[in-house]
Amino acid sequence: MALSIARSTALDLLERPRRLRSSAAMRDLVRETRVNLGGLIQPLFIVPGQRVRSEISSMPGVMRYSIDAAVTEARELAEVGIRAVLLFGVPDFKDAVASGNDDPDGLVQQATRAIKDALPEMLVVADLCNCEYTDHGHCGIINDRGDVENDATVELLVRTAISYAQAGVDIVAPSDMMDGRVGAIRRALDERGFEGVTIMSYAVKYASAFYGPFREAADSTPAFGDRRSYQMDSANAREALREARLDVAQGADIVMVKPALAYLDIVRAVREAVDVPVAVYNVSGEYAMLKAAVMNGWIEEERAVDEMLGGFARAGADIIISYFAKDVARRAR
Ligand code: PBG
Repeated sequence: MALSIARSTALDLLERPRRLRSSAAMRDLVRETRVNLGGLIQPLFIVPGQRVRSEISSMPGVMRYSIDAAVTEARELAEVGIRAVLLFGVPDFKDAVASGNDDPDGLVQQATRAIKDALPEMLVVADLCNCEYTDHGHCGIINDRGDVENDATVELLVRTAISYAQAGVDIVAPSDMMDGRVGAIRRALDERGFEGVTIMSYAVKYASAFYGPFREAADSTPAFGDRRSYQMDSANAREALREARLDVAQGADIVMVKPALAYLDIVRAVREAVDVPVAVYNVSGEYAMLKAAVMNGWIEEERAVDEMLGGFARAGADIIISYFAKDVARRAR
């Protein structure tokens, strides 16, 4: 029996929010937030060699590239509208003090020159850390207590930041969580005429299980211990504001929150606490987790990715670093 609803049974409502959800055009008309496509950054892992494009097993669809292959990839990224790449060097040679990191012919330096030569408009961001260059996998120099020594590590970071600037990076992104590194890097860059080089600091970086696949990709798993004496405790929110404010006071142009999914309250709070652009890093484990569900047929990839990145925008992120950036940009075309 067909149900017929008499006019008289209609509720007497003044507000009917569903009116604004009645069609795709209506929903588009009233949409409150959108992912800023110009704010997407694609990470790229750079390895030695020629014509290397090797998939990272825990990040299906994400490759490690030799420099020539990275240039090809950067061209493809530019074609779909990606305007910034974040470089990670994954060198063969590692030692206790990350001495390969400030080599003028290091992977990041060479890749930067090659990408800027081919695509002068592409913004090159260099992740600035030591963990990919140390044989113990920690982000700095280990002292006799087995801990990362702060001030000596800052000195290394400063040397490498200068080397990256000399190679032509647009943005250095210190990801080590040492105290005082932003101010030291800013001063050193300015003294050498690199006042135009931007600093995007990993201001709020939590010690996280979600970096697992990255450490496989970058071969940077700590050989002993963990990173809890320098990366933040995931229980802390006030401390995030302290870190963000300290970095802004020391000259950070952009501050980042990392990881993303479990920390959207932090993105919102940092957005409200500082006036510089806020970036969020949708990390390797977040990528791997979603991809695994997609590969099992449990989740629809495109809708899930849009919903996830939309959540970052809604939380207040201006910039999104994601291994999905290329796909999102391609679909937006
Ligand atoms: C370097 C660095 C890490 C990531 C970005 N920079 C790894 C770590 O701190 O262990 C993680 C990125 C990701 O998981 O996608 N210190």
